[in-house]
Amino acid sequence: MSAKTYFITTYGCQMNEHDSERMAGMLEAEGYAKAPSPDAADVVLFNTCCIREKADTRLYGNLGHTKAIKDRRPDMRIVVAGCLAQKDKATIQQRAPYVDVVLGTHNLASLPRLLDESLDGPAFEILEQTETFPSALPARRKSPWHAWVSISIGCNNSCTFCIVPAVRGKEISRRLGDIVAEVESLVADGVVEVTLLGQNVNSYGRDLDGTPMFSKLLRALDRVEGLERVRFTSPHPKDLRADSVAAMAECRVACEHIHLPVQAGSDRVLKLMKRAYSRRSYMDKVHMIRSAVPNIAMTTDIIVGFPGETEADFAETLSLVAEVRYDGAYTFQYSPRPMTEAATMDGHLPKEVVQERYERLTALQDAISYERNLATVGSTFEVLVEGFSKKDPSRLTGRTRTNKLVHFQGADLGEGSLCEVTIRSAHPHHLEGRLVGRDTARRGKMSLPLASTASGCGSC
Ligand code: SAH
Ligand code: SF4
Ligand code: F3S
Repeated sequence: MSAKTYFITTYGCQMNEHDSERMAGMLEAEGYAKAPSPDAADVVLFNTCCIREKADTRLYGNLGHTKAIKDRRPDMRIVVAGCLAQKDKATIQQRAPYVDVVLGTHNLASLPRLLDESLDGPAFEILEQTETFPSALPARRKSPWHAWVSISIGCNNSCTFCIVPAVRGKEISRRLGDIVAEVESLVADGVVEVTLLGQNVNSYGRDLDGTPMFSKLLRALDRVEGLERVRFTSPHPKDLRADSVAAMAECRVACEHIHLPVQAGSDRVLKLMKRAYSRRSYMDKVHMIRSAVPNIAMTTDIIVGFPGETEADFAETLSLVAEVRYDGAYTFQYSPRPMTEAATMDGHLPKEVVQERYERLTALQDAISYERNLATVGSTFEVLVEGFSKKDPSRLTGRTRTNKLVHFQGADLGEGSLCEVTIRSAHPHHLEGRLVGRDTARRGKMSLPLASTASGCGSC
C-alpha cells in the first residue's frame, strides 16, 4: 500500500511558514509523505492568516475548490489551521461544513490526534491560550541550509490596528538554552542561516528573567560553531535597546539588516495606533543603529489610510520614508479587523483616497530602493546561494548579508554555499552580479562590502 500523503498551503507571515513546517514534520512522523499537489493528497491543510480582510475571502474560495476534489474523493480530509481558524472556528463550521479538522494557533501538536478523531466526524478544537512554549515539535524544513527558529510566541502589545494579540495570545518566551540547543542541532544538520521569529523579538526574555534578553541570545548564538548568519523578525522600535544594537554590531553572525516596522510617520497617527514611540524616538533608533552598524540595510512596514489619517499625516509618512531612505518597505492599505480598537474608530477613509496615497508611497519607496541598489554596483558581497533563479534557471539566486537578492552565473555552486559576487547592475528589487570567489565561509563581518571598485554602470 502506498503511503498516505499531505499538501499544505500557507498564508501569512514567517511564523505561519514555520508552523506549517512543524505540521509537515508531525505528519511525516505519522508516516505521511508530501504530495505534489492538493489534487492528489489524502490530507489537504490550509494554514491561514487573518491580518487583513482579503485573507478571509481567499480561504473560502480555496475551500470551495478543494470541496470539488473531495466530492470526487470522499476519503480526502480537509484541515484548516492557523490564525483565521483561531478567529473563525464557528464560521468555518457554518460556511464549510465539509471541513474535517479545525485547529488554532495554540494546539498545533494536536493535529495527529484530531486527524484520527475526524474519522468519526468533524474534529474542531480551538484553545484560548497556551501556557508553555511548544518546543519539541518536529519540523520538515523546506530548506537544507536555512531554518526558522521561534524564540517567542504571542504578543503583549496592543497596536490598535492589529489582530495578532487576539489570535496568537500573550507573549511567551522560549528558554535561551532550548533555543541554543536547537540551533546547534540545526547546524549539525547542515543549516548555516537561522531566522529568529517573534512578534516583538526585543522583548524576548522579559517573561523569563524580568528583563529583555535578546542581546544575550545573539551573543550566545555567535558562539555556535558553524553558524554563519542570524536574521530576526521583527524588532519593535519601542523595545529596541542599545544592548541589542551593540550585540548586532559585535556578533559575527548577526546580519547587517534590520526590519524595523514604523507603520506611520505622523506622531498623531502613531499615537492613535498605540505604537508607543514618536517619529523622533524612532529616528533616534535609526541613527543609533546606523552609527553602530554603518552598512546596515533597513526595511520597514507601513500602513496607509489608518482611520483619521489626513493628507498632512500622510505627507509625514512620505517625508519619513525620504528621510530614512529604507532599502525596502512592505506597504499595506489599512484593513479593519474584528477584535481591534481601530475598527471602531471614526474617520475610516474612502478606498480611492487610500489607493491614491498607497500609489504615491510605493512610487517613492521604489525609487529609493532602486537608488540604494544602484549604490551597490561595483561592490563585492558575500552571497549565500539559495538555488536556481526562477526566471532563468541557468543562473543562481542568493542573498547578501544585507538581505539583497542577487542573480548571477555560477552553475556548479550548491544551495547553501557562500561565495563572493561583484554587483554589475541594479534593479528596484534585485541585483545582478558576477561570481568572483567561492566557498568563502567564516568571513562574517569582514565581508561588508568585501571590496568596491565603484565604477559600475548601474544600467537596468
Ligand atoms: N509584530 C510585527 C507585525 C506583525 S503584522 C510588528 O509589530 O512589527 C505585519 C504587518 O502587517 C504590520 O507591521 C503592519 O504593517 C501590517 N498590518 C497589521 N495589521 C494590519 C491591518 N489591520 N491593516 C493593514 N496592515 C496591517
Ligand atoms: Fe501586532 Fe503590534 Fe503585536 Fe506587532 S507589536 S504583532 S503590530 S500588536
Ligand atoms: Fe502571521 Fe497572519 Fe497570524 S501575519 S501571526 S499568520 S494573522
